[in-house]
Amino acid sequence: MSPTPILIDCDPGHDDAIALLLALASPEVELLGVTSVAGNQTLDKTTANAIRVLEFAGHPDVPVAAGADRPLVREQFVAAYVHGETGLDGPDLPPPQKQPVAQHAVDFLAEKIRASERPLTLIPTGPLTNVALLLALHPDARPERIVLMGGAIAEGNVTPAAEFNIWCDPEAAARVFASDIDVTMIGLDVTHKALFTQAHIGRLTGRVGEMVTELLRFYDTFHRTVYNFDGSPIHDALAVAHVLNPDLVDTLERNVEIDTESELCRGRTVVDLWQRTDREPNAHVGVEVDSDGFLELLVERINSFE
Ligand code: RIB
Ligand code: CA
Repeated sequence: MSPTPILIDCDPGHDDAIALLLALASPEVELLGVTSVAGNQTLDKTTANAIRVLEFAGHPDVPVAAGADRPLVREQFVAAYVHGETGLDGPDLPPPQKQPVAQHAVDFLAEKIRASERPLTLIPTGPLTNVALLLALHPDARPERIVLMGGAIAEGNVTPAAEFNIWCDPEAAARVFASDIDVTMIGLDVTHKALFTQAHIGRLTGRVGEMVTELLRFYDTFHRTVYNFDGSPIHDALAVAHVLNPDLVDTLERNVEIDTESELCRGRTVVDLWQRTDREPNAHVGVEVDSDGFLELLVERINSFE
């Protein structure tokens, strides 16, 4: 079976970096390009980090295009408290050798979508600013499917009510969920059930395995401090894993609306889980995860790098 063409729109970020590695190591997909967005860190840092990870993994050929340096409406907010000042604190990754392509990420995404001979899946793992701009500026260039990491049926992580990617740019998220595109939401309800623990880290091998170990040594501190977790959720990698093997996450077709009005619940993904309204379903929402299946796949694919 031919690999599924994918594009990843990301804000590296520790888990974004691991998501990129998983995509690179997986024959089920063909990574046509990467676009960056401000989120975990500023755009210059997330762009450089995407290039650094691709180069470290031996894939300098994968093009990177820089996108939005701030949300559509809201002020920029970076999560240095999770990912550090560089956005990838931990490993001493070499600086990027290449520059991003000259095209803006939104035009790059549109060009790749139009040119793809097979239906293409877009995997956003950061705030959805670039994706909302793509829908507005290039209404003809629609991916067949969007599998995004973001949102939560239950509690949030950046506020009690909202998950970081959606909270950063709720107006962008509202446009994506209203797009009528086949959207899958991989939220905290499933990512927090699949923690990459010290036992998994102990099984990592090779130079990429060592780099991931250094990433997680830093990334784990936040999750141990805040949640008292034994390990970390590799949020963004679960979105990629679901494209590789849809059996890893069980989803329900539900209506998801985004709160863009209140401050208390800014960016909340209001998921009509029990179908209490007559609002039409507009997303496949992740509700259960095969944690062992996902984590074993992640260890295997990280260790597959030469
Ligand atoms: O809430 C988790 C999400 O926010 C992940 O994508 C992480 O990288 C941050 O962007
Ligand atoms: Ca991310």
